[in-house]
Amino acid sequence: MTDEALIAAARQAARHSYSPYSNFPVGAALRFADGAIVTGTNVENASYGLALCAETVAAARAMTEGRRGGLEAVAVTGPGAEPITPCGRCRQVLNELAQLSGTDPLILCVGKSEVRRLRLSELLPHAFGPASLA
Ligand code: THU
Repeated sequence: MTDEALIAAARQAARHSYSPYSNFPVGAALRFADGAIVTGTNVENASYGLALCAETVAAARAMTEGRRGGLEAVAVTGPGAEPITPCGRCRQVLNELAQLSGTDPLILCVGKSEVRRLRLSELLPHAFGPASLA
C-alpha cells in the first residue's frame, strides 16, 4: 500500500471520530510488514480527561489482533491545515509495538498540503521500552 493510500485510510477513520468536546477529529492508520492496515480514531468521553487518541486506539486494535511488531509506517491526520504529530503518550504507545520487533516506523504527519515525514526515533529519542526492562 502506498503512503497516499495509508493517508486515505487515516482520513477515512477520522470520519468515525467521536470528538464532540474538542471538535478535533483525528485519524490514524498503521501499516505492517505483511501489508495489513489497522486504523483508529479518537474517542472522547464526557469525563474529558479520558479521551483516547487515534494512534492509541489503532495500536490497541493491532495488538488485540495479535500483532506484536512489524510496524513500518503510521499516518496521522487532523482537521486543520497544519500537520499534527502524535502526542507524547501516543509516541510511547507506538514505541512499544515498534521496539518489540526492532522497527523504527515512519510517521506521516498529514496536513492540508504538507506531509511531514519523521521517524518515531526522532519524535521519541532515547525511548524507554520493553528492551529497557531486560
Ligand atoms: N488527539 C489524538 O487523537 N491524537 C493525538 O496525537 C493528539 C490529540 C485527540 C485527543 C482529543 O480527542 C483531541 O485530539 C484534541 O486533543
